[in-house]
Order: sequence, then structure tokens, then C-alpha cells
Amino acid sequence: MKIGILTSGGDAPGMNAALRAAVRVGATIGVEMVGIRHGFNGLIDGDFVPLDNRAVGGIIERGGTILYTARSQRFLTPEGRQQALDKITSEHLDGLIIIGGNGSLLGARFLDEQGVPTVGVPGSIDNDVYGTAMAIGVDTALNTVVDSLNRIRDTAFSHERAFVVEVMGRESGYIALMGGLAGGGEIVLIPEVPVSLGKILADVDAGLRKGKHHSIIVVAEGFTPKGAPEAGRSAGRVVSDFLEESGEIETRLTILGHVQRGGSPSAFDRILASRLGAAAVQRFANGTTGVMVALVGKEIVAVPLAELNKNGSNIDLEIYKLAYDIAT
Ligand code: F6P
Repeated sequence: MKIGILTSGGDAPGMNAALRAAVRVGATIGVEMVGIRHGFNGLIDGDFVPLDNRAVGGIIERGGTILYTARSQRFLTPEGRQQALDKITSEHLDGLIIIGGNGSLLGARFLDEQGVPTVGVPGSIDNDVYGTAMAIGVDTALNTVVDSLNRIRDTAFSHERAFVVEVMGRESGYIALMGGLAGGGEIVLIPEVPVSLGKILADVDAGLRKGKHHSIIVVAEGFTPKGAPEAGRSAGRVVSDFLEESGEIETRLTILGHVQRGGSPSAFDRILASRLGAAAVQRFANGTTGVMVALVGKEIVAVPLAELNKNGSNIDLEIYKLAYDIAT
């Protein structure tokens, strides 16, 4: 059996560990793996590389993806999709493993529906892939956020300032919520819960009245203040300018940006990625395709690709409430 494997969409720490596991487990069960570089663009262009056990040596500790990745616009076109299908046929691939987030898994579903046996692996720091408790890369990104919040708190404390910290998550507030909870943020602002600028200021004021001398406000990049849609400035900038202009507390803004996507994967991500990568190739051997391998409880299970929906939210409003309750 000959299976192609690619990484697609935003990179996530642990993608390499998943690739390594898929190749090495594949070798033990007679599955030959072919790497496809640059995500779906590489599928369209036929950018294939043979992968054996040695080709995936020394990568378990590396962030990013040695296969490169892309947000392929060409794969969204009928011509691009046909070229991809033609390359799968000419390369004699028996199927594909696709590691990525929601958009990439929709691509996986499309290919499966076209008769190309496909297995998806959730990899995205946003943790917004429906059907899995955790995606590859989330834990490492959260640890990066928490480490940054620790450092910011030192200076926020010393100068008695408010700090607005903008984290990734264009459509999902998972990183902001869990990062804010773990980092002791006073206020967490996420796309799923609109809050007005006035309420944010009132919450900062309430903290000052309770004797707090500094404040950390964690904002997801996709947050929009209730009643104040704003184009042109980032979510963090809008909140930070508003607090600074209120004159209540000196305020600074830090945008963490792509630092959150890089870095050596945490132990959790290496373990999760190794289990998911292995499970993906084992599913092929068992004849189970058209699925995404996923973490549910302690188990790795298979979720039909047809069940994945772009609106799946991993935000637990109880946890949102908890973040506020324990920050007061
Ligand atoms: O991978 C997901 C993500 O990190 C989002 O949180 C973020 O909005 C987006 O990718 C940024 O993507 P890009 O690197 O393509 O600008």
C-alpha cells in the first residue's frame, strides 16, 4: 500500500511527530509513505518525496513541519482539485493522510468523497476542530502563552499597569480562554462572548477598587467589542487604546503573534501526535477511511469526516465563568 501524507494550513508544533509516527508505524505494517510538500499545492504540483524511517529521524523535537505547509487557494478551485486528483492517480497513491485544521480537513473530506481513501489528523493551535478534545499543537501554544503572561505580569506588577495581551484565534477563543485561565489573566475576551468596552473598563475598575494594582487582559485576535465593531485596528489595540484613554490606569499592549505557533512541541503534543499519526496509518491497514483520528477521553477514536462541521466550538462557558470567578 502506498499512502501520501501532507501538512496543511497553519503549522502546529507536533506535526513532525505525527509524520514520524505515521512513517515508522507504516513501515512495520507494509505501508509505504510518500511525503507531499507544501500542503495541497504540492498535491496539485506533484511535489512528492519518498519517506523512510531515516527521513523522519531527528524531527520529534522540531516545531513547524518539515513537509512545509500552505493555505492553498488553488485547491479551492475546480481546476486545482482536478489536477490534484490526476496526480494522485499518476503517483499510484492508495490514499492520503492529511494533517491540519478545519479547512484542511474539509479538503480531506472532499477527496474522500471523490473516491480517494483519506484519513484526517487534527493539527491546529486554535483547538477548534470538532470531534477531538485536543488537536496537535494546542498544548505547546498554551505553554508559550502562559510563559509570556508570567513575564508580562512581572513588569505589569512592577509598574502597576494594565496589560492587554492579544493572542491568536481569529474565530476561536480557546487559546485566550485557556491561556488566560492558566496564566491568571483578570479578564478574558473571546469572539464567542461579546463584551462592551464599557464593561471591560468597569471590570478593570472593580479590580482596582478591590486592591489590585495591575491587570492582565487576554484578548483573542477575533474578539469584537459589543456595539463597537472596528476595522483597521487589532482587537488588542482597540481595547488597550480605550483603557489608556480612559485615564484610569496606564495601559500597554503586547501582541504575541506567531511566536505562539513555533517552538519545540511539549511532551503532551509529542505523545498526542505520535498516537494520532500511528492511528491514522493503522486505520488504512484496517480499511477504515473517510475518518479523522481524534482524542476522546483517553482513547484515540475515528470520527467520520462527514461529521466535521466548521462551527464546532470547543469553548466551555463554565470555564469562561471560572476564569472570571477566580481572577477577582
Ligand atoms: O493556525 C491558526 C492560526 O494561528 C489562527 O489562530 C490565526 O488567526 C491564523 O492562524 C494566522 O494565520 P497566518 O499565519 O496564515 O496569518
